[in-house]
Amino acid sequence: MKVLLLLGLVAVALAEITRFDGGKVYRLQLKTEEQVSIVKELGDTLQLDFWNTENEFLRVDTDVDVRVNAEHVDLFGTALEQGEIQHEVLINNLQAAIDNQMDKDVSTKSHAYDKYNSWDKIQEWVTSVTSGNPNLISREVIGNTYEGRPMHLLKIGKQSGSPKPAIFMDCGIHAREWITPAFCQWFVKEAVSTYGSDPQMTDLLNQMDIFVLPVFNIDGYVYSWTNNRMWRKTRSTNSGSSCLGTDPNRNFDAGWCTIGASSNPCSETYCGSRPESEAEVKVVADFIRKNKPIIKAYLTIHSYSQLLLFPYSYTTQLAPDHKELLSVAEGAADALRSLYGTKYTSGPGAVTIYPAAGGSDDWAYDLGVKYAYTFELRDTGRYGFLLPESQIKPTCEETMLAVKYIAAHVINSL
Ligand code: ARG
Ligand code: ZN
Repeated sequence: MKVLLLLGLVAVALAEITRFDGGKVYRLQLKTEEQVSIVKELGDTLQLDFWNTENEFLRVDTDVDVRVNAEHVDLFGTALEQGEIQHEVLINNLQAAIDNQMDKDVSTKSHAYDKYNSWDKIQEWVTSVTSGNPNLISREVIGNTYEGRPMHLLKIGKQSGSPKPAIFMDCGIHAREWITPAFCQWFVKEAVSTYGSDPQMTDLLNQMDIFVLPVFNIDGYVYSWTNNRMWRKTRSTNSGSSCLGTDPNRNFDAGWCTIGASSNPCSETYCGSRPESEAEVKVVADFIRKNKPIIKAYLTIHSYSQLLLFPYSYTTQLAPDHKELLSVAEGAADALRSLYGTKYTSGPGAVTIYPAAGGSDDWAYDLGVKYAYTFELRDTGRYGFLLPESQIKPTCEETMLAVKYIAAHVINSL
């Protein structure tokens, strides 16, 4: 009887689905030091979820996007009024925004490039897109996630007898950034469907291989579909804490946990118990180390904020290749903007967004992969992580231009 009860409780706990009815996302304009300290203080007491910055980097004259749970909305509102903090409500009812993000026709239950696909769909797609394009795509399981899911890596490129220089690109390091796996899938589709007709893509795939990891943090991605749309981290347990998960983009061995990362397992930016403590991080780092001689560029796709970032983030010092990295980023951002006018800001992570150690871009760069870029895709906060499906196509189309621009530069540098 007791055992059954226990099993029942475990089942309920496992099935716990977090809803966000009445939750809100605000954009705050902090004008004074006092206002900054009010919000910092509230950050801890009201468990605020900062979407585009981190508690320790709140400062005067920044726009802060912050998610507030329904139970704390009244208190938060009062505090904003008392502190005379200028603000607007970006999302008035988070659950409604979650329910509305899938604004595409739902009649099709199969995989679609202009919709958000569940991990099951993506996994089926990995198989079918590979077998449908045997002369351009091959796949390999490079390891398993914490929960045991196989990490499939796609290699796209014209087959050749000898190893080709390569670009490594991953999406979905952070679970809730759903537009990013959508981009990796889009990229693969575009690559195979424009090879032979688009000269730039043809040249790229003739001369290089592109490794694409469609979802880096698969466990987190699954959890963001099934239980908590706002999940960011991995799903590993932490000893001595009931909080789960590590931020994979704080877990790489690059100034690990020195700045912009937390040693508290309950934090959204928990750096983990040691560098590469996360299975997924270790798998990717091992793969890149092993293939270091051929990997010429590392692209990692995040959202949101419309940024094109490059090293460093763990220090405000400029990277040795700063000038070149900046000019390539600016060229890529111009190419991106040419399609729909979407404006991107480029620069080193530490000064453009916030200092944050343990990121994959800095790690790859220090390993010797010169062209290490982090994309932060659309938008600038209107929908944030809940970008509607109707924006998948334009977002992916414009991002393709930037990725192809960077790739062309990499080819020229070979
Ligand atoms: N929003 C990304 C993150 O917080 C930015 C990553 C920039 N690079 C870095 N090494 N911190 O992970
Ligand atoms: Zn991210």
